[in-house]
This record gives sequence, C-alpha cells and structure tokens, in this order.
Amino acid sequence: MIALIPAAGSGSRMASVAPKQYLDLAGQPLIWHTLSALSKVAELDQIVVVISPEDEWWDSFDWCEFKRLEVLRCGGASRAESVLNGLLALQGSDDWVLVHDAARPCLDPALVSQMIVELVNHPVGGILAVPVADTLKLAQAGQHIAHTHPREGLWQAQTPQMFRIAQLAHALTIGMGPDITDEASALEKLGLQPKLVMGSPWNLKVTYPQDLRLAELILAAGRLG
Ligand code: C5P
Repeated sequence: MIALIPAAGSGSRMASVAPKQYLDLAGQPLIWHTLSALSKVAELDQIVVVISPEDEWWDSFDWCEFKRLEVLRCGGASRAESVLNGLLALQGSDDWVLVHDAARPCLDPALVSQMIVELVNHPVGGILAVPVADTLKLAQAGQHIAHTHPREGLWQAQTPQMFRIAQLAHALTIGMGPDITDEASALEKLGLQPKLVMGSPWNLKVTYPQDLRLAELILAAGRLG
C-alpha cells in the first residue's frame, strides 16, 4: 500500500514567502509532520511525495529519517494534475493508494489504520470526512444571504482518500477539470460511490495563516497524549 502526498502547491492563501508545506510548524517544516504521521502507519510500504519541478525548498531539509520515502518532481498546475502525474509514475501497480494533502499535518496514524480496515474489501474505496456541523448559507452579490442550504447528509471531505492506483489514474485522466478538487470527485464522475469514513476535526488543512497556530496546538495536545 502506497501513500501519495501532493505537495506542489504554492500556498497563495497563506501570503507567505515559502510554500505552506515548508513553513515552520513546531520547529519543523509543516510537511515533516505529515510525513511523520504517515511513516507511523505500518500498512504503508512506501510514501511518495510529489513536488513542483521548480521546487527550491525540498533539498534544503534533511529527510533521511523517513526510510520509505520517495520524492517525485512532477507536480502539475492543479492538485489533481499533481496527483495524476504521481500515479502515472507508479504505473504497473494496482495496489491501493492513499492520497493525503501535505497541508494536513495533524493526521492521526491510528485513524489511517482504521480507515484501511474499513475500506480494504470495498469495491471502490473511500475517504475520511466529517459531517457538516454549521448552518450553511448561500451568498449572493454584496455578501448577502440568498438562502440557507440544508446541511442534512452533507459531509466535509478530508484526506487520506483511498483508491486503487489504476482506477484513480483512469478517473483523473477522463475527468480532469476545475471541478475535480479531490480524488473522490473523479471517481464520482464515473458514476462510482466512494465510502465516507468518519474522520476527525483535528485533521485540519492548513490554508490560512491562523491555521498554523491551531495546528501547533493540536500537535502539542497530541504529544500530551
Ligand atoms: O491549495 P490546497 O490547500 O487546496 O492544496 C491541497 C494540497 O494539494 C496541498 O498539499 C498542495 O501542496 C497540493 N497541491 C499540489 N499541486 C498543485 C496545487 C496543490 O500538489 N498544483
């Protein structure tokens, strides 16, 4: 089983000099924590990181402690393209792949093992997700509320997202476009129904500057047990 980490984003919403995966989080680059969590998942044989061909940051850190790590410099213009390019480099294998955002550093390794148990015999695969807790508003011009959208049955997608390598590569190739914002959406476009596996509110995606502080607090709380 393989973990694939798209890490070729520029992190434009962070308004920082370095891409967000390299920002300091508790004394290490953010992606270090992501790799550290995944390297504790015994079921994973290999961890593949997809970075941009123009990445000037990766080589300035030492990744020796991560034994099953491979880096591919084949990131694309979108997250979906980066994932597809990574999958094409893994050609020939029809193993499961767990795609996980570099920008989700607070992943609990036990949750990943649990997810694997739930999905390993599933015909399609699935994703970590959490039910939507807030009331949802659709905005119209001028930031006024057009209407309240019923939240019943709505889930927020997280990662990892676990699918078969060949099927995911096929789905991304066929469906590639701006509407493909995660792996599951490509499978859905083929008429398939990935499973929702209960994720965790701690598994946040670092997107805005204030998320870094929150991630630091979550990691510190985890260390306290
Ligand atoms: O920008 P966003 O937070 O949605 O990115 C999610 C993940 O996808 C991040 O880990 C980011 O590095 C990755 N990504 C990528 N290639 C892109 C854009 C984003 O690998 N072109």
